Amino acid sequence: MADWNPELYNRFRGYRAEPVEHIFSRLQFSDDEQMIDLGCGPGDNTVELVRRAARGSARGVDSSPAMIEAAGKLRAGLPEELKARLSFEVMDVSKFSGDRDYTLIFSNATIQWLRDHRGIFTRCLKALKPNGRLVAQMPANAIETAKVEMDALVGEAPWRELLAGVQIPFRKDAEPEHYTKMLAEIGYADVDSYYVTFHHPMERPAEVVQWYRSTGLRPFVDALPADRQDEFLAAYTGRLERAYAPPDR
Ligand SMILES: C[S@@+](CC[C@H](N)C(=O)[O-])C[C@H]1O[C@@H](n2cnc3c(N)ncnc32)[C@H](O)[C@@H]1O
Repeated sequence: MADWNPELYNRFRGYRAEPVEHIFSRLQFSDDEQMIDLGCGPGDNTVELVRRAARGSARGVDSSPAMIEAAGKLRAGLPEELKARLSFEVMDVSKFSGDRDYTLIFSNATIQWLRDHRGIFTRCLKALKPNGRLVAQMPANAIETAKVEMDALVGEAPWRELLAGVQIPFRKDAEPEHYTKMLAEIGYADVDSYYVTFHHPMERPAEVVQWYRSTGLRPFVDALPADRQDEFLAAYTGRLERAYAPPDR
């Protein structure tokens, strides 16, 4: 599969930051937090983490070399004092492990790309220091128009045959209660698992396509022959134009 595209991903940075702003509004930071950002992407959140802990450190990890390169450029432009407490490296989060290394494990919009949630959350608990905290945000859009239309499109000819081998870990969203139970069983205390709905007005269905082009659509588009990709994107755009037509816009 082609690598992630940080520029395209960041085109909607304002909207993509909203869940993180929500999390930060609820989270108290101590000065000495030892933090890791699992699936840090272009690094913006990792920088915000380290800014909030005066003497703390933050390590951003991501499996995408392009994302880590973008994060490295972001880091290079920071004051020396912040730079010294911040690092980025390529790492597959599904292989992440630690032993009481962190006071805060943070992950935004990444764990839905992994298959084994119980496994990763179990290893996160082991990687936390006593009284450490795990904060993970996953999108849950399976019932939203854009995802419903995406699923319908990839399930119909000719795309069904062309995309038969594509494996998407996050096709089914689990309810917050599923994670409350799972995390308690693993051994987490004070679990708080909940939905927040963020509304992201867009001018045209084509913008919705752009939003998903850098995330949920990637595995499908990248699996198609180059000369069919535009046709697929046009078919998806057409579906969204019909689905979002007034009065349901
Ligand atoms: C939607 S982006 C979120 C990026 C960042 N956390 C943010 O909030 O802007 C998802 C990120 O997960 C990363 N990712 C997906 N699977 C991964 C894996 N197995 N290990 C590490 N990173 C992964 C992608 O490379 C991408 O940067």
